[in-house]
Amino acid sequence: MAIERTLSIIKPDAVERGLIGKVVATFEERGLKPVAMRLTHLSQVEAEGFYAVHKERPFFKDLVKFMTSGPVVVMTLEGENAVAKNREIMGATNPANAAEGTIRKMFAQNIERSSVLGSDSLDNAKIETAYFFRSIEQHGYEWKR
Ligand code: TYD
Ligand code: MG
Repeated sequence: MAIERTLSIIKPDAVERGLIGKVVATFEERGLKPVAMRLTHLSQVEAEGFYAVHKERPFFKDLVKFMTSGPVVVMTLEGENAVAKNREIMGATNPANAAEGTIRKMFAQNIERSSVLGSDSLDNAKIETAYFFRSIEQHGYEWKR
C-alpha cells in the first residue's frame, strides 16, 4: 500500500461542540497524521467553489449555508492508504448508517451536521488538498513529492 494524502475538514457542528481534539486524536490513533492544519471560517465563495461538484444537487444551498455557518478546521492527513482509510474512520454519509466506532457514529448529528468531510478518491484528494494548502504548507513525514 502507498502513502497518500487526503483532505479532511472538521465541520462547524463538531468545532462548535468542542470536538476538534477528539476528532484529531481519532485520526492519529488510527494511523493518519495531520501534515497541514488551519482553523478558518469559509466564505460563501470558498464553500461554493469547494462543493462545485454538488452544484446541481438539491441539498447544495443548505450545505453551503451550513459549511459557512461557523469555523471549521481544514487538514491534510497523511498515511498508508489515507484516502480510503479516512473514509473508513469517518463512517457512512448518513450517520444513521455509520458503523460503530466511526467518527460519524460517535459525533455526527444528522446527514448535514456530519462532523467531518473527507476526499472520496485520490484524484479528488489532490485537487482538494491543493484548494486549501500550497505544497510547502504541507509538512509530510513519508509522502514523496
Ligand atoms: P457526499 O459527498 O455525498 O457525502 P460525504 O460527505 O460522505 O462525502 O455529500 C456531501 C455532503 O452533502 C454531506 O457530507 C452532507 C451533504 N448531504 C446532504 O445534506 N444530504 C444528502 O442527501 C447528501 C447525499 C449529502
Ligand atoms: Mg463527498
